[in-house]
Amino acid sequence: MKRYFFKNLCLLFFITAQVIFCTAQTKSIDQKVDSVLKLMTLDEKIGQMNQYNGDWQATGPITKDGDKQTQIREGKIGSMLNVTGVDHTRTLQEIAMQSRLKIPLLFGQDVIHGYRTTFPLPLAEAASWDLQAIEKSARIAATEAAAAGVHWTFAPMVDIARDPRWGRVMEGAGEDTYLGSLIATARVKGFQGKGLGNTDAVMACAKHFAAYGAAVGGRDYNSVDMSLRQLYEVYLPPFKAAADAGAATFMNSFNDLNGIPATANKLLQRDILKGQWNFKGFVVSDWGSVGEMINHGYAKNNYEAAMLAANAGSDMDMESRSYIKNLNTLVKEGKVKTAVIDEAVKRILKKKFEMGLFSDPYKFCNEEREKQQWNNADNISFSREIAKKSIVLLKNEHQLLPLSKQTKNIAMIGPLVKAVRDNLGFWSYSWPDDTARIVTLWNGVQNKLNNTSNLLYAKGCNINDNNKDGFDEAIAVAKQADVVVLSVGEAPDMTGEAKSRSNLHLPGVQEDLIKAIMATGKPVVVLISAGRPLVFNWTADNVPAIVYTWWLGTQAGNAIADVLFGDYNPSGRLPISFPRTEGQVPVYYNHYNTGRPAKNDSDVNYVSAYTDLVNSPRFAFGYGLSFTKFDYSTIKLSKTKLTATDKLEASVIVTNAGNYDGEEVVQLYIRDMFGSVVRPVKELKGFQKIFLQKGASKEVKFIISTNDLKFYNNELKYDWEAGDFQIMIGSNAMQLQKAAVEWAK
Ligand code: BGC
Repeated sequence: MKRYFFKNLCLLFFITAQVIFCTAQTKSIDQKVDSVLKLMTLDEKIGQMNQYNGDWQATGPITKDGDKQTQIREGKIGSMLNVTGVDHTRTLQEIAMQSRLKIPLLFGQDVIHGYRTTFPLPLAEAASWDLQAIEKSARIAATEAAAAGVHWTFAPMVDIARDPRWGRVMEGAGEDTYLGSLIATARVKGFQGKGLGNTDAVMACAKHFAAYGAAVGGRDYNSVDMSLRQLYEVYLPPFKAAADAGAATFMNSFNDLNGIPATANKLLQRDILKGQWNFKGFVVSDWGSVGEMINHGYAKNNYEAAMLAANAGSDMDMESRSYIKNLNTLVKEGKVKTAVIDEAVKRILKKKFEMGLFSDPYKFCNEEREKQQWNNADNISFSREIAKKSIVLLKNEHQLLPLSKQTKNIAMIGPLVKAVRDNLGFWSYSWPDDTARIVTLWNGVQNKLNNTSNLLYAKGCNINDNNKDGFDEAIAVAKQADVVVLSVGEAPDMTGEAKSRSNLHLPGVQEDLIKAIMATGKPVVVLISAGRPLVFNWTADNVPAIVYTWWLGTQAGNAIADVLFGDYNPSGRLPISFPRTEGQVPVYYNHYNTGRPAKNDSDVNYVSAYTDLVNSPRFAFGYGLSFTKFDYSTIKLSKTKLTATDKLEASVIVTNAGNYDGEEVVQLYIRDMFGSVVRPVKELKGFQKIFLQKGASKEVKFIISTNDLKFYNNELKYDWEAGDFQIMIGSNAMQLQKAAVEWAK
């Protein structure tokens, strides 16, 4: 503190200021913030609320006007995004130290699933249902990023997403509020580690507040219109969990919610977040979302946009320059109160203090640390661990998997066998040594087999073209093999921001390639890489073994080979339902029953069903196979009639009845049979991931209290109602043991 901030500053200011500053060292952070605030001009305050992009990696148009370095020197920029590396951040921080008040810059970056070491996509990690592993992945990402000068990650994305057309499903935890809330907590804890101020902790940012994942038609940036009840019950809880876990910041979202853009949404930002939830961090806008309110038809111009956003509680403007250009006039004209500006600036300064940047603005500019983290073997080996856990085995007829390591001839076919960078997926970083670092599927299998098998290769086709010229070669290669591993999928940039798709089928001629290879009569294992649930009905009906590999990161090839050859027994479970067709979207497990529910998939007569398609998803939420088989006993209940203070103990005995040791995710769902508002047919309320040696059994117990029965009623009161409940335990949302209880008030 003394060295960089107070020493220089105390020389600069007249006595009163010196007193305020120099005594600030012994004060609480709030007092220090107040001391700084008192010295700031209105323009300097507005500068803190202004965030610019660095020189590269933009997800929106970069406004080029003005020289950024001069503006930093003038105290007109509080934060930069997409500036990384010790060198670069130091250079800009040095310029900030030339500003009148020497307030340090905050450097933010989208560290979404790893920084130097890439981990599986967030949706893939969610498939692990392993909260400790997910937390660790965020922890490592934070450590690597912080060592490269990053203070702040724009993650986790905690948007519930029920529509796989939306390209950003890859970035969240899937469709379920309960699982999503636990994962939100794990990720925030992981990023912020032992707390802000440690050199391996970055500030987390829960985004996109709120309901961005419910964009109409799954089209990115589209509008959202939903009841407040649904907002409170389905979409807000992961944000609340992130706030409770101490997330330092929130990002608002591009969408309008019930007619009000989230960026100017007072209900969300002031009433719920800063009011009801008592959130003490700050809110950053999404990229340009303040200015985009003009397109929304909500603000006439940037002047009005700045007024609406600031008054509604958006503290920092990312890249729309509406604040820097208009807030001064707005304050002078009385349209934005000084108190609004002061509140925003205090929130921002507080985080800078908590990060320790006032004490040492170069705290995160340490070449030694950056070097240490650059090729950290533990991080790489963890990347393989979590990648294995994220893989979901969808089908395995006749125990085709695992393959024997003694297999003589293995044909590796498909456009993704030798893909390198694709393995990292969207929202990942390119490094010059990517080719050497990333383990391709081809290399992973080679590493596993130690030259004991003959590996054959044919590409067959590209991911997304209509050219079948490579089929003949692929068929010839398949014919020479004992088994075919066929690697297909989406291109990695088909999911992510602005990557909504109306067609979820395997792109190009890939399913034709699968048919052609199946026609050889050889045993075929299909691997599917994607950032969302895809539609592949022919494959699901005809191919004996299917493995969903998402995008798994730096160690993808090794992790897939671990599963293919049985060194790891897959334990991933789907965090999102897989539709049978695009026309079935959105399909999610916790829907309402309706007045005319279909009894089963063949019941279509004047019931809530399609006449040309069954209601069930292709693969259900929570679904995933293991090489072994888990049997469930019926449910044992401690009571069937309960009162308010009672706790219900519900248990099952799970037996590993197959031939491999393995992990099972035992899932608990509850249905409230009748309510003052209709309730979903089931809701996930608990799960336990257990390991069982072959032949072993374990009693898995869930303790249920009335807290687990609560929901938002029509007055938005969160409470439980007495009545009948169904308790369900099983291996996925469609395969469940059931038991009934009655709960009285
Ligand atoms: C995205 C955010 C991201 C920001 C900065 C926006 O386009 O919606 O999620 O954090 O860009 O890159």
